[in-house]
Amino acid sequence: MRTACGLSVAWVLLTLPALALELEAALSPAPEAFPMPERVPDTLKDDAHGKLVRDGLDILQRTRIRLPAHVGNRLSCTNCHLDLGRRAGAAPWVGVHAAYPQYRARTGGVDTLEDRVNDCFERSLNGRALPAGAPEMKAIVTAMAWLSEGVPVGRLVKGRGVPPLKPAEPPDANRGRRLYAQHCACCHAPNGQGVGEAPPLWGNASFNVGAGMARPWTAASFIRANMPLGQGGTLTPREAHDIAAWVLAQPRPDFPAKVKDWPQGGKPPDCPY
Ligand code: HEC
Ligand code: HEC
Repeated sequence: MRTACGLSVAWVLLTLPALALELEAALSPAPEAFPMPERVPDTLKDDAHGKLVRDGLDILQRTRIRLPAHVGNRLSCTNCHLDLGRRAGAAPWVGVHAAYPQYRARTGGVDTLEDRVNDCFERSLNGRALPAGAPEMKAIVTAMAWLSEGVPVGRLVKGRGVPPLKPAEPPDANRGRRLYAQHCACCHAPNGQGVGEAPPLWGNASFNVGAGMARPWTAASFIRANMPLGQGGTLTPREAHDIAAWVLAQPRPDFPAKVKDWPQGGKPPDCPY
């Protein structure tokens, strides 16, 4: 049997578009969802707008290097928002500029796109918010607006978010430990700290307990759709839940402000706090 870690990066990159299409079909949240337009950075002009979009895409890919004062772990944005935020089932950014401002139950108010970006800075990157007027925020939002070109305001794209995967039976973290050793440890290391390109999954260098990825149904959904990298869709839902249970049973940074989440109710059933 070929292991995930035996795959070359070239093979992974070649197979990604096909997998993305398959997953888009599998994960579409609603029949009226807007088809995700294809966005190609090579088509960007060399004018002021094109330069700002490219800068935004670079910040999203190399977040730790570009904004060390705002990142508190070893992750960058595109470690989860795969393929420059263009992958169905990996919380794509294509379309987000058409979806915000929107009401969100977690904050109990209307969030702008800048607010939503900062949620991921504070939780997924366990770091600090960027001022809404910072040049880097301007670049990020301009990049997301470019990625969203063609999506009508207010419409949600197919493959948006990480649709929560409900378990059919209670997950088993012990089974997850064995499956992790078999399918994940080769890249993310037995201690979860990652090797080479593969980022950490737990510990101080990972996302904090307030992150979307720290919710078991979200993590299971992301894992099932996207991991092992290049082999998304090969684990069964039960295997993805067992692995998520094991990964999330490991220590990770706290997020004290979590006590203010869901002030008007509507907390999802898998929220661990
Ligand atoms: C640890 C994984 C992870 C990292 C790293 C991460 N995010 Fe996210 N992000 C998520 C998850 C999970 C969601 C929620 C998806 C859902 O709602 O189903 C999300 C949602 C979002 C959304 C809203 C998407 C939508 O459809 O409404 C935006 C915008 C976003 N992230 C931006 C960022 C930016 C910018 C960074 C880097 C500063 C970042 N994220 C880093 C996991 C991550
Ligand atoms: C072939 C190597 C490889 C294998 C095997 C693999 N991953 Fe990953 N994983 C990656 C890489 C590389 C990224 C970052 C992707 C990027 O930046 O484009 C990633 C990202 C992630 C992320 C989001 C970022 C983070 O650190 O939280 C999670 C969660 C994850 N993997 C879980 C798993 C799980 C669970 C398994 C086993 C089922 C697994 N991976 C197997 C390479 C791998």
